[in-house]
Amino acid sequence: MRVAQETVVKPASALRGALRVPGDKSISHRYALLAALADGESTIVNYATGADCASTLACLAALGITVTRRPESHPGGTTLRVRGQGLRGLSSPAGPLDCGNSGTTFRLLAGVVAAHSFASTLVGDASLSRRPMRRVITPLAQMGAGIEAAPGDRAPLTIRGGELAGISFSPDVPSAQVKGAVLLAGLQARGRTTITEPGPSRDHTERALGAFGAEVAIVDRQVAVEGGQRLTAKTLHVPGDISSAAFLLAAAVGLAGSCVTVHDVGLNPSRTHLLDMLRRWGARIDVDLRDERDGEPSGAVTACARPLGSLEITPDEVPNVIDELPVLAALATFVGELRVTGAGELRVKESDRITALVTGLRAMGAHAEELADGFHVRGGRRLAGGCVDARHDHRLAMAFAVAALGASAPTRIDGADAVAVSYPTFFEDLERLRA
Ligand code: S3P
Repeated sequence: MRVAQETVVKPASALRGALRVPGDKSISHRYALLAALADGESTIVNYATGADCASTLACLAALGITVTRRPESHPGGTTLRVRGQGLRGLSSPAGPLDCGNSGTTFRLLAGVVAAHSFASTLVGDASLSRRPMRRVITPLAQMGAGIEAAPGDRAPLTIRGGELAGISFSPDVPSAQVKGAVLLAGLQARGRTTITEPGPSRDHTERALGAFGAEVAIVDRQVAVEGGQRLTAKTLHVPGDISSAAFLLAAAVGLAGSCVTVHDVGLNPSRTHLLDMLRRWGARIDVDLRDERDGEPSGAVTACARPLGSLEITPDEVPNVIDELPVLAALATFVGELRVTGAGELRVKESDRITALVTGLRAMGAHAEELADGFHVRGGRRLAGGCVDARHDHRLAMAFAVAALGASAPTRIDGADAVAVSYPTFFEDLERLRA
């Protein structure tokens, strides 16, 4: 099936087979940025193929970093060579740094350029320009960067960087992007930078810093880095993105007679809560942990269909599965029931994922209810299909596609081309798994 502006997804009887998914988006951004700050040339194998990670590379190129692509031995992936310029070694960009749709590019890059003695302006698309940036402005300004934002503390941000001083910072929300921005600035600052999070968030920045040879002190929710540690260029392997695999695994759980295996997928414990939740819901999930390269565990995950009961995701669990909530909602339309609260952060993702998700699922015939900070979906009634609007949000497009598999008639998804942001071959892979 060709991915166009709108895509039609037909119902499926079952999904079966094994595949790999593109490299992990969160890990790819961090490896590219740290490779740029390292001394010497790094090689990144299986760099994520989506538009978000391409935005990070385009920004690095504008900051004077040479990136070359090698033909890939890894199926479908890309191998990059990144010539690092050392800490605070980027050059002043000639124009704005375009982060596209990518919140991770924007926030992590803000931390990187804040330590450089030049001005840069970070811009993004319409969706990114609506997202809150106060969360990175506050700590980076405390460290000594001069930052001007558009009204409401949104993009574009103009950052006048320079010599930063380490800080102790406690963000209001758990966020790996904020933690990452502060650690990347802290690595290039004078003294020690400590960040204490109110809840857990993915720990890829910490692991990636370790892979490049930096020491990071971690005690419970507190992470500290000493400024000025030189990074050593490396060859790194990016495992498959479990947040992309989530769509196919969830579909396999929901469609009777299905069994899907995803190979070489990242199994970092800060990202695998989805698998625990699927099990708690009643699913059969088998994990075969095979490797731990560069501090990131990986292996194969198999999901097979099972009838589901009710699942409640509580506010303290939300940060662990924030990117998977749309597909869990889609799965709940097949059978069972899902209630999520404390997920207000979903409203400031690539779209307002609470309103857009509930509106879309209802348009397909689901029992779905919007809550102030979450949603409630009850399954058991076959969806009718129809038309839904993914609002240019990649995870919504894929979640609606999963829901569409269980419908009685085809579903047209408007804005489905947004899958290019994280999983360009999603629709092709879905087609291959149809039994
Ligand atoms: C990400 C962190 C999360 C997540 C996003 C990727 C990262 O965002 O939703 O898709 O790579 O650091 P927050 O840091 O805003 O929670």
